[in-house]
Amino acid sequence: MKVPFIDILRYENGFYETVCAKASELLKNGHFVGGPVVGQFETALKDYTKASFALGCGNGTDAIQLALRAAGVEKNDIVILPDMTFWATFESVVNVGAVPYVIDVSKETLHLTLASVKEGVEKFKPKALILVHLYGWACPETLEIRKYCKEQNVILIEDGAQAIGTKIKGESLLAGAMVSTTSFYPAKVLGASGDAGAVFTMDQKIADTTRILLNHGRTGHYDHGLIGWNSRLGAYEAMFMLESLKHLDAKLVSRRHACEEYRKKIKNPLMRMVGPHSDVWENGYLSVALMTPESRPAFIEYLKKHEIGYGTVYPGAMSMQPGATAHLGGKISHGHADWIAKSVINFPAFAYIKQDEIDFIINTVNAYKA
Ligand SMILES: Cc1ncc(COP(=O)(O)O)c(C=O)c1O
Repeated sequence: MKVPFIDILRYENGFYETVCAKASELLKNGHFVGGPVVGQFETALKDYTKASFALGCGNGTDAIQLALRAAGVEKNDIVILPDMTFWATFESVVNVGAVPYVIDVSKETLHLTLASVKEGVEKFKPKALILVHLYGWACPETLEIRKYCKEQNVILIEDGAQAIGTKIKGESLLAGAMVSTTSFYPAKVLGASGDAGAVFTMDQKIADTTRILLNHGRTGHYDHGLIGWNSRLGAYEAMFMLESLKHLDAKLVSRRHACEEYRKKIKNPLMRMVGPHSDVWENGYLSVALMTPESRPAFIEYLKKHEIGYGTVYPGAMSMQPGATAHLGGKISHGHADWIAKSVINFPAFAYIKQDEIDFIINTVNAYKA
């Protein structure tokens, strides 16, 4: 059996036909950028996530840049972020003219901790912090970090590119943030058929500024109150995701099932299955196992030989990227992000993965010997 790491073509029954019919309507109506379907998608997204405001934009990276700008981050401001994230988090800080400082993550939870945030804030005195929620989990100390940032007057942006549908203590993660973002890259839990993203906020002013920034700083058709850029959501992508959103709960059930099965049934002593904190309801974006940097390469060869797709999300710490050197303001490192990067392995957990595929992966992984 061959199982890919991700298969984005497992559409629900009737999904393909509905999207084709709706695309045809958009073509006939000339609704290409904006238009009623973008508004409908934003409303559906707001209702699903329970956020006060949900604004569609071009992609998840733009969403972070919009959030930083709208929340008041300016040129040369210091922004701290975890050393373990996707490069877009780091890149966004540089792209808005601010200076990225990285802090290490926990080797246990793979996320920032309140203690690491406190150390970073005390040492670097940042204007803002980007808290990243990876693997479809939430940083376990999100609520404490939110409270601490508020007390310290540190702007908190939450990068929820991987966290749509994720809950913490029973509440929607993205809705509870002052400002959070997500990505609808096709491989994400709610994927578009191209690039798209969104900003969520509970603050009317941040929502209004985001809306202006993503459309050329427009305050009127040819009135430009701010230097923004073009990050408008296309009507076709909004339509595609509006349809997909109707199936999001089913996707989450299927992805979570795969992650839970791996955690329950993979018993290979060469790896440790890792999951979210018990306060967190994961969306099943990624299954996570940790090996050692020494044992991973041979295991990867074994997975390749057995035609099992895998991920190493993410294989490099931010501070170790060649592109970071010219921009990194400073870092607090205990070597954890680097260790995780070299030890992490992800098994297939896409929506509608079949039970026989999951069983095949579990049996093959359990049969592995170094
Ligand atoms: C944690 C994180 N932040 C930001 C992004 C950027 O999103 P996009 O690729 O839509 O720009 C991603 C997407 O992979 C991500 O995983």
